[in-house]
Amino acid sequence: MSAKNDKIPDALKENILMESADINDLKNEINNEDIGIEIKGIDYTKEESIDMKATDLVKAMKSMGFQASNLGKACEVIDKMRSWRGEEYKDLPEDQRKGSFEINEDGSKGRQRTTIFMGYTSNLISSGTRETLVELARNKYVDCIVASAGGVEEDIIKCLAPTFLGDFELKGAMLREKGLNRIGNMIIPNDNYCKFEDWIVPILDQMLIEQEEHVAKTGAECNDAVFDKELPPWTPSKFIRRLGKEINDESSLLYQCYKNDIPIFCPGLTDGSIGDMLFFHTFKSSPQQLRIDLVSDIRAINSMSMESSKAGMIILGGGLIKHHINNACLMRNGADFAIYINTGQEFDGSDAGARIDEAISWGKVREDAMKVKIYSDVTLVLPLIVAATFKNGKKLEYWK
Ligand SMILES: NC(=O)c1ccc[n+]([C@@H]2O[C@H](COP(=O)([O-])OP(=O)(O)OC[C@H]3O[C@@H](n4cnc5c(N)ncnc54)[C@H](O)[C@@H]3O)[C@@H](O)[C@H]2O)c1
Repeated sequence: MSAKNDKIPDALKENILMESADINDLKNEINNEDIGIEIKGIDYTKEESIDMKATDLVKAMKSMGFQASNLGKACEVIDKMRSWRGEEYKDLPEDQRKGSFEINEDGSKGRQRTTIFMGYTSNLISSGTRETLVELARNKYVDCIVASAGGVEEDIIKCLAPTFLGDFELKGAMLREKGLNRIGNMIIPNDNYCKFEDWIVPILDQMLIEQEEHVAKTGAECNDAVFDKELPPWTPSKFIRRLGKEINDESSLLYQCYKNDIPIFCPGLTDGSIGDMLFFHTFKSSPQQLRIDLVSDIRAINSMSMESSKAGMIILGGGLIKHHINNACLMRNGADFAIYINTGQEFDGSDAGARIDEAISWGKVREDAMKVKIYSDVTLVLPLIVAATFKNGKKLEYWK
């Protein structure tokens, strides 16, 4: 208390002018190394602040506060997630040779690495976020993807016809008259879905033939959960893999995942245009019908989680895709790294808005996980994050 204040009544001294604890004591008490960083923004008088690189920008934003700090933290967590290395494959006992490994130049398996589960909502594939996701799959930076139905079909549709920038303000009735559909400030012509139908129906026909041949060949065992990725019984992930193979287009996320053997799980496969196509197909194929088995897929994704040496989540948006990854990670007592990027709020009790701390209570994320939620539109932050982490051009410094 300064001498200037010695005439102030004691009650005021105690209640208002009370002395502060040392910020480092709080840092140690909470065990959070970010507490106590001095709040500072970018110093634009410095030459290095002109036309900044993503890595420098994100690093500088870490000390800005609010979501800028969460963005900086997310990049640190992603770098930790992708640079963890465990034991050499060859040194592991037979029963522990599971999960994700780095691949040596000669094609053999090297050290254990984090299995990265990524989820995204449908609108993100409709947006230009698609190209960022394609890059992640093209380089095999992620191991497993969960999408909603729109996130599957819109990827294929974009190979057949473009999506356009529109405006949030365009009137629904006016667009309806013109056969144009709006997703936020983007426009997708109805014709795109007609092209999708023309493209997918012959594939559905062929998959039905293959299914019936499989049934005839295997008889009573036709429904056994054999997980040959190319053969019936079909599951959502095998169905999506087949679409990726058939589209055969480098710009497609599904194609890159097919090429790199990254499974895309979609437990809500029928909730979109694909569902419409499958519905129409039942009339065409009657009395036969395509069958898609969800149980084999839940076994597949949960097994991936259980086998992972370390598990990381990068969840873009909320809803089904967020929960499906979290639930899979419950099978291994929680993820070791968790990044949520979404606009959801928790006050309504929704899973979409639930913070990572709620997932910890369920055992879906570990208490000691490295984690952060960014409250933001994914389109704003994901390109920055990927530029500053996966695509920063720097050699990874491994840690164990
Ligand atoms: N293009 C499309 O959006 C499209 C197309 C066809 C079908 N559908 C179907 O609509 C249903 C609902 O779609 P969904 O499950 O993909 O997600 P959704 O659009 O319902 O979003 C779920 C939650 O994710 C968060 N979120 C969404 N977009 C975000 C963004 N840009 N940035 C940050 N957070 C964001 C929000 O919290 C939101 O409540 C699905 O079954 C899907 O198949 C969507």
